[in-house]
Amino acid sequence: MRVFAGIKPTNDALHLGNYFGALRQFVALQDEHPETLYFIADYHSMTTVRDGKQRRANTHDVALDYLGAGVDPERAIFFVQSDIPEVTELTWILSTVTPMGLLERAHAYKDALSKGDTPNHGLFSYPVLMAADILLYHSDLVPVGQDQKQHVEMTRDMAMSFNHSYGEEIFKLPEPYILKGSAVVPGTDGKKMSKSYGNTIPMLATPKKTQKAVMGIVTDSTPMEDPKEPVGALFDLYKLFADEAQCENLASRARAGGLGYGHIKQELLGLVLDYFEPMRERRAAFEKRPDDVRDILASGAERARAIAAPVLESCRRVAGLGTTS
Ligand code: ADP
Ligand code: TRP
Repeated sequence: MRVFAGIKPTNDALHLGNYFGALRQFVALQDEHPETLYFIADYHSMTTVRDGKQRRANTHDVALDYLGAGVDPERAIFFVQSDIPEVTELTWILSTVTPMGLLERAHAYKDALSKGDTPNHGLFSYPVLMAADILLYHSDLVPVGQDQKQHVEMTRDMAMSFNHSYGEEIFKLPEPYILKGSAVVPGTDGKKMSKSYGNTIPMLATPKKTQKAVMGIVTDSTPMEDPKEPVGALFDLYKLFADEAQCENLASRARAGGLGYGHIKQELLGLVLDYFEPMRERRAAFEKRPDDVRDILASGAERARAIAAPVLESCRRVAGLGTTS
């Protein structure tokens, strides 16, 4: 059973949605499965980020977040997507068995259109690159947040279509893995937390930055002394960090009145900072050793390529590509 997943290095630090939707599962699955591959999707970030220096810095920051969160390079193969350029060849190959209609139905693409973005071809074919990532490593299980489930389903369609077209089971069919209960983490404005909405709470930023984000959670204007129903983004975020008894206790204090949203935010801030403290320390330790981080990624790329090369080769063989095989 091979586990495979990645996160894009876009402008901001990784946030609570990335952690509860993805990274937390990455770390847990590392203990359960002997073969895990985790990567930083820097090619994918090119559909939005147009600054090379910034991409390199973001990639390094995201690598630190992964390592801080507990991705263990002794167990997981940890690498940067663009260190394995074979994935772009597979993207082309898969694009030739992908109907336009399939891509037109992709939620991420439709969302970009509805936000008024001018989509580039890269954004349109984003799910093909993602499928190439997954299929190049014969992945079985793909831990993602709810919003990425459709992309994994599209990957299955592309794999089946290729296998069927060329009459051989070249690609394995992957399954999405979504942990129940933390499928969609709300942002500070109540919408899905996302780097592109500017509503994030960073997971491993300085306490000051975390505080600023937590204090910015939008609530209604019920005065402090009035009773409050324990619903909405603030309470949903609280639930991610508190056990059942703590949540019930908060709910009854809120309903009783006299507890302001500001107090609840302070409590939440304390929980967030405590929860991530060991990870923040581990991140800081890696931050002091940039050469080690580079070595970890270089050795991850080498191991990843050893898996990818034969898969691509078998794909080229059945497709009749190249002059030698
Ligand atoms: P963003 O939307 O901030 O750009 P990404 O698309 O890079 O985040 O997502 C990386 C991973 O984190 C994916 O597996 C995605 O499903 C997960 N994820 C992102 N935001 C959330 C959220 N608000 N709730 C749950 N999972 C999320
Ligand atoms: N599209 C994913 C996201 O936005 C990132 C990603 C790229 C990915 N390739 C992948 C996730 C392969 C899992 C498997 O979060």
